[in-house]
Amino acid sequence: MKRIGVLVSGGGTNLQALIDAQKDGSLKSGRIELVLSNKVDAFALHRAQLARIPTAIVTKEQYPEKEAFEQTILARLKEYRIDLVVLAGFMSVLSPEFVAHYPRAMINIHPSLIPSFCGEGFYGLRVHRAAIERGVKVSGATVHYVNEIVDGGEIIAQKALAVRKGETPESLQRRVLENCEWAILPRAVEKVCREMESGQTEEDG
Ligand code: GRF
Repeated sequence: MKRIGVLVSGGGTNLQALIDAQKDGSLKSGRIELVLSNKVDAFALHRAQLARIPTAIVTKEQYPEKEAFEQTILARLKEYRIDLVVLAGFMSVLSPEFVAHYPRAMINIHPSLIPSFCGEGFYGLRVHRAAIERGVKVSGATVHYVNEIVDGGEIIAQKALAVRKGETPESLQRRVLENCEWAILPRAVEKVCREMESGQTEEDG
């Protein structure tokens, strides 16, 4: 059983999808042992508390220097012996030095079909606004490993959805969340935990 740490900043609906998957047994190769937020008022913290999952708060206000901020997060993850770090709406870009502590053991969910509309500056509504402005007919979500390139790690899962006529960034954001993100994140987390448990990757067979 792998020990999962979920990093959040906001509403935590993706965290909720993981909690629900844990409850219904579809997430069974790992367990959420810590929810860490970089925002004191993140609703995700409330969701974690309701599910009786330990929480931690590490903010830029407490640690204005990036190194101290990241060292503190790292210390919490070590304290809880986290095997897999899941970035679920975590709105802070982690340094390559931080990422190097979790090779193939940190994953992120991004609300577009990577490699479209991703990388530095593509977050939140900006992603969906750019997709609509470009006139794409299909968008979706991607779960990928985190490496030193923003949104650049190997892709684990994707789900697409058709963009509707008259779609707004807000409506697309909502539909991608509900139809794509909540579906693929729990499945991807289970898959990665299972692979970590068996000490195998797909390429190994
Ligand atoms: C999601 O769209 C996620 O893809 C992005 O931030 C949003 C977080 O939503 N990285 P929530 O906090 O999980 O509700």
